[in-house]
Amino acid sequence: MNVRQLELRYFRNYEKIKCDFYPNCIHVLTGKNAQGKTNLIESIYYLSHLRSFRTQSQSRLIKDDHDFFMIRSVMESHQRKEEVRIVGYEHEKHLYRFNDPVHRYSDFIGNINAVLFCPDDLSLFNQSPKMRRRFLDMELIKLSKKYTWTLNHYQKLLRQRNMILKKEKIDDVLLETLTEQMIEDQVIILNQRVYFLENLMEKTKKFYSYFTSEKEDIGGQYLTFIELENIRENLKNAYVRSFHRDKMYKQTHLGIHKDDIDFHMNGVSLKDIASQGQKRSFLISLKLALCQIIYEKQKEYPILLLDDVFSELDENRSQKLISILPKTMQVFITMTERVNMDWFRNHETKIYQIEKGHLKEVNL
Ligand SMILES: Nc1ncnc2c1ncn2[C@@H]1O[C@H](COP(=O)(O)OP(=O)(O)OP(=O)(O)O)[C@@H](O)[C@H]1O
Ligand SMILES: [Mg+2]
Repeated sequence: MNVRQLELRYFRNYEKIKCDFYPNCIHVLTGKNAQGKTNLIESIYYLSHLRSFRTQSQSRLIKDDHDFFMIRSVMESHQRKEEVRIVGYEHEKHLYRFNDPVHRYSDFIGNINAVLFCPDDLSLFNQSPKMRRRFLDMELIKLSKKYTWTLNHYQKLLRQRNMILKKEKIDDVLLETLTEQMIEDQVIILNQRVYFLENLMEKTKKFYSYFTSEKEDIGGQYLTFIELENIRENLKNAYVRSFHRDKMYKQTHLGIHKDDIDFHMNGVSLKDIASQGQKRSFLISLKLALCQIIYEKQKEYPILLLDDVFSELDENRSQKLISILPKTMQVFITMTERVNMDWFRNHETKIYQIEKGHLKEVNL
């Protein structure tokens, strides 16, 4: 998948730009601090996820003193071009494909697939389990419509079950029916999450081994409240055991809405032992693994967005990172340092200078 053209209007510090990009090519975005490098990455991420990775507030994306932003792009996927456009206001956004309105976000998300690495991603290891579940969900939602439907359905059932538990007089039959349906949803969700994580970790390990000369043993294990053989049977038993406790405390204690991932290195939780560089290498490997999974499923690479990826990576690892980027993947990399073109010698690379919200291609 490639962004062939990007047009921004009143997005962050961009007043108005229109730029053509190259397919299957590394785009290096250079410039001093606070010039708009991350903002440009953010606009491509927004096309893919319909939200920012830096703010929850859409109004922050609108250039000061304006009341909307526009991101328009010509995307190319499997040799077919598609024009998409997002117009964002303070509290709403309008989506278009070839000028036709797209009413459901789910019809828009997933068509444009971008994978991001940014320094804030390191919080995946330190923050609450919710963040790690969200990471799994976000990726699976993009890959599987069945997962999206089942997760939404499960969340609806969970809300209903909690509402019933809060009532004075509890309808046991209804409670049981809901529990049975929740079990069926969880069989699907657990299977998909566990399979996805195993696949992701297997690939992550391979990428990680390129980065480092020491041979750390890394992994990520899915943590849930049941043993993962005979999932349906174990779920049923767990809910039977928790039935009285749920009724007593008027809430659902068990479920995949409480699960977690334990990322580890040499048998110890990653956040407790890994250096900054090791965490960063782990995460980059994870993102490259994700690109690989998307490639296997969709037969083309997503767009890879690497924001500030080289800080805290030594020269050796930085160089290795570039060397393992697939040649048929479009990549955007931001950096403030002068570009060492030697790192990119085996890839088709274009350099852009960004200054105060203006972008120009440069020849080094
Ligand atoms: N809504 C907005 N309207 C106008 N300017 C904005 C808006 N949001 C952010 N900016 C400006 O964008 C600039 C930051 O851009 P960006 O984060 O892309 O910098 P960068 O080039 O990635 O810098 P660094 O190298 O420090 O990461 C800041 O000057 C900020 O004030
Ligand atoms: Mg930046």
